[in-house]
Amino acid sequence: MEDLTIQQQANSHTFAGRNDRFFQALGRSLNRSAGAPLKVLSFGCSTGEECLDLARILPDANIFGTDIKRSALQKAQVTCPPDITVFMSTQNAIRDHGPYDAITAMSVFCLWPATSGLENITEVYPFSTFESGLLGLFQHLKPGGVLLLQNAQYMVEDTTLADKLEPIDDIVSDSSGWIFKCAPNGDRLTTSQVDYDGRQWSFPDFFLANADRIKDTTHPIEFSVSHRWTPGPEIYGRNPDIALWRKIRE
Ligand SMILES: C[S@@+](CC[C@H](N)C(=O)[O-])C[C@H]1O[C@@H](n2cnc3c(N)ncnc32)[C@H](O)[C@@H]1O
Repeated sequence: MEDLTIQQQANSHTFAGRNDRFFQALGRSLNRSAGAPLKVLSFGCSTGEECLDLARILPDANIFGTDIKRSALQKAQVTCPPDITVFMSTQNAIRDHGPYDAITAMSVFCLWPATSGLENITEVYPFSTFESGLLGLFQHLKPGGVLLLQNAQYMVEDTTLADKLEPIDDIVSDSSGWIFKCAPNGDRLTTSQVDYDGRQWSFPDFFLANADRIKDTTHPIEFSVSHRWTPGPEIYGRNPDIALWRKIRE
């Protein structure tokens, strides 16, 4: 059952420029038809920096930002200029401003750091919570529209949307994010690995050693992230490194 008002990630941490590479890939994937301005929704926009990034990278789009946390949203309303529409995340408000050509959910479909170190996350962040949010977003996406999912802890292929969303083969160097992926029963399935400076790092080690350089988005550093299946049976047909998904049927 879809429900956009279920709390996903509780933490509102964000900073400007963190997802530029994803938004550039999103820009390449959008269907632009003459005359109609694009509508892009940042679901879980936190304090609004993400909306500014989207507006900078997609100047031909109308940007909408929504969040469930009132304190973050109040800051977003100050951060964003009037041509960016910021509103409380409710089913009706999301529907009334849509439908959208693209919806971004960056570090929203996860629970972090609460699941860090767990081999099974179902007690803390169950698959049903992810799926209900994803189903809710899907219905506000236009046909052919694009869903951008980063740091989701479960996989699109395991939901009832598996045959309605098609992976877009534009691999972003940041993969689909660095947080590990799980099976619907909550079992951890992947570990993310960062390739940087001729070395392979776990994401926490990479972040700790290079935090200043990562946050200095005016001088982006070149690194790539990929997911490795943790020992055990590989799950074929899953795309843990895909971030962009196109709606191919209702
Ligand atoms: C870690 S922040 C991500 C901020 C930004 N997207 C980024 O990547 O920098 C996650 C945000 O998702 C929001 N969130 C969680 N559940 C939500 C829901 N059901 N509707 C809208 N926002 C939600 C949280 O309130 C939080 O501000």
